[in-house]
Amino acid sequence: MNKEQYIARVLHGVEWRFDKDVAISYAPSNIALSKYWGKRNKPLNLPITDSISVSLDTLGAATSLKMSRESKDIVILNDIDISQDDNFYKRAVQYLDLFRPGEDYFFHLDTTSTVPVGAGLASSACGFASIALALNELFSWNLPLVELSKLARLGSGSASRSLWHGFVHWQSGNDIDGRDCYADKIESSWPELSVGILLLDASQKKYSSTEAMNITVRSSKLFKKWPEVCTRTNAGILNAIHEKDFMSLARFSEESAIAMHATMLDSEPSIDYSLPGTHKAIEKVKQLRQDGVEVFFTQDAGPNIKLIFTEKYQEQVTEVFPNIKAVKPFSR
Ligand code: PMV
Repeated sequence: MNKEQYIARVLHGVEWRFDKDVAISYAPSNIALSKYWGKRNKPLNLPITDSISVSLDTLGAATSLKMSRESKDIVILNDIDISQDDNFYKRAVQYLDLFRPGEDYFFHLDTTSTVPVGAGLASSACGFASIALALNELFSWNLPLVELSKLARLGSGSASRSLWHGFVHWQSGNDIDGRDCYADKIESSWPELSVGILLLDASQKKYSSTEAMNITVRSSKLFKKWPEVCTRTNAGILNAIHEKDFMSLARFSEESAIAMHATMLDSEPSIDYSLPGTHKAIEKVKQLRQDGVEVFFTQDAGPNIKLIFTEKYQEQVTEVFPNIKAVKPFSR
């Protein structure tokens, strides 16, 4: 099944309306506590395992989408009219192509992102989730968020988790065509939780997450163990969220991040997203925890570190990491 057939199935029986001038949406970025790493179907971004994330509140993408007045697609990112040669333009238009109502229909997409693009901070997750939300609004599809997560996923896998605030569980499913692969909100709140972003380097990375995960799946021997790790970490994280057991959340989340990077290091070519500053920051987190501070780290496809900590330890964490940008995922 290709993307077009998949979309036709999701949108089967859905009425398209063209009476809205413009659609406005917002999607928060998210960070995975247990990671999505490896696709069982590349065009459909069907993952090998489940993953669990927490959304980043005000760090995300605000999008406005309308029909273009010019006979070409217009893509504006952070107030800049993006050139057709730009990677961001290409990815956005390739995605919009999937939903173009006719050959002579062109889109005007205007996105403002509060996360640095391409730095392993899930800028594509909130970007594609906000576009999926805007399409739903513009054409009045009235799709439930769970169904929209299937469409957002086609832009970027982790985008399927960016349609909600709070904790989100993305189910890998078993169906070969991804009928049972979707994300959904975990009905649980943890108001004391904070997420701090430690930006060490915001430049574009050498390997995109898709390239890196495909190399890993193809060549890492360690990767054979990855599904087993995910079964354990997903169950542990769900339980920790349910019990509000911070230390258990820390243990399973760190295990997921460390194991993911281990599979990458083990691949051919070996992929190492970390910088010296990444390792130093991780050591500081471990030291803080030894000193009794409730904090843990996670790292995605980039050198930056995300710190998860509880309100009570805000001062100790910001004393050691004065430059973090902290958000409260359960502030609303
Ligand atoms: O959604 P993608 O294709 O950018 O992949 C995201 C991969 C990680 O950020 C490393 C892990 C995750 O689950 O978000």
